[in-house]
Amino acid sequence: MAADVIATCVAEKPNCVLGLATGTTPIGLYADLVSDYKAGKISFANVTSFNLDEYVGLAGTHPQSYRYFMNDNLFDHVDIDKARTHVPDGTGDDDQRVSDEYEAAIREAGGVDIQLLGIGPNGHIGFNEPCDEFPVRTHRVELTESTRKANSRLFDSIDEVPHFARTMGIGTIMRARKILLVASGAGKAEIVRKALYGPVTPRVPASILQFHPDVTVVVDAEAGSRLD
Ligand code: PGA
Repeated sequence: MAADVIATCVAEKPNCVLGLATGTTPIGLYADLVSDYKAGKISFANVTSFNLDEYVGLAGTHPQSYRYFMNDNLFDHVDIDKARTHVPDGTGDDDQRVSDEYEAAIREAGGVDIQLLGIGPNGHIGFNEPCDEFPVRTHRVELTESTRKANSRLFDSIDEVPHFARTMGIGTIMRARKILLVASGAGKAEIVRKALYGPVTPRVPASILQFHPDVTVVVDAEAGSRLD
């Protein structure tokens, strides 16, 4: 269902700007988009994309980097022009430069038409972790131990999980014209309820979506089990 929302966007506006996400949840969505492409239903030839985030310290060739994930799950299997696919640069120390360039590139592309989001068990969107104030722009963030632990399943050990990431800010995400939030599994049930119906607070970063005018939420039965 979520893949169809994106496919419709691509079909209606072939030069659309997609905001993309990594994680386990959207893997099936990307597989469906690849099938749609192979069936001749959609083309990504004129699509531009911006991913939410990247680990600091991992080059795009590292198998756990988000650039690698995107190539592996989507970009290598469709007709997208890789030069128009953007993932925050995880290398180097110049956080300000990465932030300024990423924000400018999104602006120059005309803004994001639809932003895909997963949600962390702690309510993070992108790598915007629970904190005291909503971060506005693309920035460097220190990952919480719970996030490093949750993501360690994809690494050989938790010691290999980076401590820092670069992520779109909450302001960057909120400027997308449409938002598509996906969640699956019982482990997300409580945070999905809190994000959609609890108080809007930077302690639950996804709760800000209550203020966005065009949000679609796609959950499976387990992740939606605490919703009325
Ligand atoms: P997941 O990650 O899809 O692997 O659960 C979501 C997230 O942490 O944003």
